[in-house]
Amino acid sequence: MRVLAFLMLTATPVLAEGDPVAGQGMFITFCAACHGADAQGEGPMSGLLTVEPPDLTALAQSNDGVFPVFDVVRQIDGRDPMMAHGGEMPIFGAMFDFPDGSIKSETGQPIITAQPIADVAAWLEAIQDRE
Ligand code: HEC
Repeated sequence: MRVLAFLMLTATPVLAEGDPVAGQGMFITFCAACHGADAQGEGPMSGLLTVEPPDLTALAQSNDGVFPVFDVVRQIDGRDPMMAHGGEMPIFGAMFDFPDGSIKSETGQPIITAQPIADVAAWLEAIQDRE
């Protein structure tokens, strides 16, 4: 029995968690034009948009100090329907369609998303303004 349980555990694919270093690189490439390299909303394209890109370092502050991982992931990969229908921000779900990664939500439950999205979310979480 014990051997079987061991085999089942090891057979479960282990998803890599978000890597903030890789995430920063992704952010510079795909997001900084609008959000700015420091994610504070002052990217070179920001003045051309009708909706200003928000300061992504303030997401925790405006959510009682908790970085809203789940919402952020859904906004980036396009699962959040509000964003998919209304926003000016492009949807990156298709571009980042592989490989699968995961990141822990506020409650500790893993959220499955594309690895680059988990990476970007991990970087954003790391740069939250905690003052
Ligand atoms: C073409 C410009 C543009 C690009 C590129 C872009 N964004 Fe955005 N982003 C926006 C705008 C504008 C909003 C605000 C949308 C709205 O309020 O409808 C936004 C909103 C967001 C939000 C929601 C913030 C909140 O207050 O809830 C997140 C998270 C986000 N962007 C992350 C990213 C990430 C990560 C990338 C790169 C993978 C990215 N964005 C690329 C323009 C952009």
